[in-house]
Amino acid sequence: MPAFKAWLGGTGDWLAENPILVGFSGRKKSVRYFFPSAGVAGPAVILVGLGKREVFTVRELRQGMVAAVGCAADLELKSLGLDVAVLADTGLESTLAVEEAMCAAETATYKFDQLKTNENGPKGNPTELRLLASKESEANLTRSVEKARAVGMGLRLTRDLVNMPSNLATPAYLAKAALETAKRHGFGIEVLEADQIEALGMGAFAAVFQASREQARLIILDTHTDQETGSQTRAKAVEADKPMVVIGKGITFDTGGISLKPSQGMEEMKGDMAGAAAVIGFFEAYGQMKPERRVVGIIPCTENLTGSRAIKPGEVVKTFSGKSVEIVNTDAEGRLLLCDVLAYAGKYEPRGIVDLATLTGAMVVSLGPQIAGTFSPQESLSTLIRGIGERVGEPCWPMPLWDGYQDELKSEVADLKNVGSREGGAIHAAMFLQRFVPEKTPWIHMDIAGPAYSKKKTDLGISGGTGFGVRTLLELVREWPEDQ
Ligand code: BES
Ligand code: ZN
Ligand code: ZN
Repeated sequence: MPAFKAWLGGTGDWLAENPILVGFSGRKKSVRYFFPSAGVAGPAVILVGLGKREVFTVRELRQGMVAAVGCAADLELKSLGLDVAVLADTGLESTLAVEEAMCAAETATYKFDQLKTNENGPKGNPTELRLLASKESEANLTRSVEKARAVGMGLRLTRDLVNMPSNLATPAYLAKAALETAKRHGFGIEVLEADQIEALGMGAFAAVFQASREQARLIILDTHTDQETGSQTRAKAVEADKPMVVIGKGITFDTGGISLKPSQGMEEMKGDMAGAAAVIGFFEAYGQMKPERRVVGIIPCTENLTGSRAIKPGEVVKTFSGKSVEIVNTDAEGRLLLCDVLAYAGKYEPRGIVDLATLTGAMVVSLGPQIAGTFSPQESLSTLIRGIGERVGEPCWPMPLWDGYQDELKSEVADLKNVGSREGGAIHAAMFLQRFVPEKTPWIHMDIAGPAYSKKKTDLGISGGTGFGVRTLLELVREWPEDQ
C-alpha cells in the first residue's frame, strides 16, 4: 500500500488549503468529508476528530473508526483507506493501533441480515479497508493485520451465533458450528448427546435438558488432539503441556423452566448461549493464529424449557462430582450445567479454568450492561483479567467470593441448593460454581450477563450479540501464568 500522501496523489495540496479544515477543531466524534475539486482526480477524504491528545485512548480510536465507517456508509463508498502514520502519531503503539482500528471497522460494518428477505438489501457498508503505510512499516504491520483478521472472524462468528434465534441456533447447530471450526483448524472435537451426558453421571445438566424436544449436546474441542485419530499430534513438546480449559454456558433459550420468567424481554434469552458462542468464536480466532498453547473447550448446550417433563422446584439431583443438589429455582439453570462440566474438566488436569456465562440478572444490576463481573480465588488472575479487559475493550471488574455467604447455599435435604437469597445473587452463583472446581486448579468465572448482549446500539455501533469475551480469552490463554 502506498503511504497517505502518495495515495492522495496530486490532491494532497488542495487538501491542506481546503476551507473546511479551518472550522475543524478535531472534537471527539466530529466528522468532515469532502471530495476533490472539479477536474482533480482522487479519492474523497473523511476527517474524524479524535478529541484531546492528553486523554486519547484506544476507546477514542474505536469511536473514531466507527464514525469514519458510518460516514463512508452514508456516502456509499465501498473502499476506505486509513492513514497509518496518523495512527502512529496518536501516541499508541502502532501495531496495537492498527489492530484496534481494524477490529473497530470490522465491528462497525457487522450486520446480522441473514434472515431478511428484502431483495434490495440494506444500505451498503464499505467492504474494503486499506492501510496506507510506507513500504518500510509494511512488514511490521503484517502481524497486526493478521491478528486483527483472526479476531474479526472470531467476533463475527460469536455474534452470528448469539443473534441467530433459538429455533435455528439449537444445541445441534452450535455443535455444527464448532465442528466446522475444528475442521478448518485441525482441532479435535467430540460431541456427546443426551444419553451419553446422562451416562457420564451429569445429573444436574440432565435435569435442565429433560424437558426439551431439541436434543442437548456437550461439545468438547481440543487444539492439540487430532480430529481423525483422536491422538495428540501437534507439537510433541505439548504432551507435557497441561491445557487451559475454557467453558461456556450454552442455553439456547432460557424460559426459566417451571420457575417461568416474565414475558417482558424474554426474547433476549436467545442470547443465553453467549458464553458458548464466545468459546466457539475464540477457537475460530485462535485457530487462525496458529495456536501454541493447548486449550480445551467444554461447551454444554441445551434449552431450558417448561412442560410436563420439566424438573420441578425442590427436586434433588446427583451431580458429576457426586454432590447432591436441591434445585430450588429452575431458572438458575446455568450453574447446573456448569457445575457438572467444571468437575468434569478435572480429568484434563488443567493449568487453569475460565468459564464464561450469562449467569445472573443480579450481575447486570451490580455493574450495568457494559461490564462483566469476574470471580476468582486467585487475586493475581483477577488483576490479570482486569488489565486485559481494559486493553481489549471488554471491561470487567473483580467481585468477591465471600465466605460469609456460604450458608446461603445450605440445603435441608441435599449437599447444597442452587440458589441463595436475591441480594448478592451473582456472588451466590459464583460460590455455587466454586464448590465444583477441581481442587488446586486456578479458576476465573466471568458473569457476562450484562455485556454479552446489547438491546440498543452502543457508541461502538453494536447491537445484539457483542462478541464479548472472545478477545479476553485470546489474551488470557497467552498470558496465563506458567506456574499457578
Ligand atoms: N440467563 C439468566 C441470567 C440473565 C439475566 C442473563 C438477564 C442475561 C440477562 C439466568 O439463567 C437466570 O435466570 N438467573 C436467575 C437466577 C435466580 C433465579 C437466582 C436470575 O438472575 O434471575
Ligand atoms: Zn435462567
Ligand atoms: Zn440462563
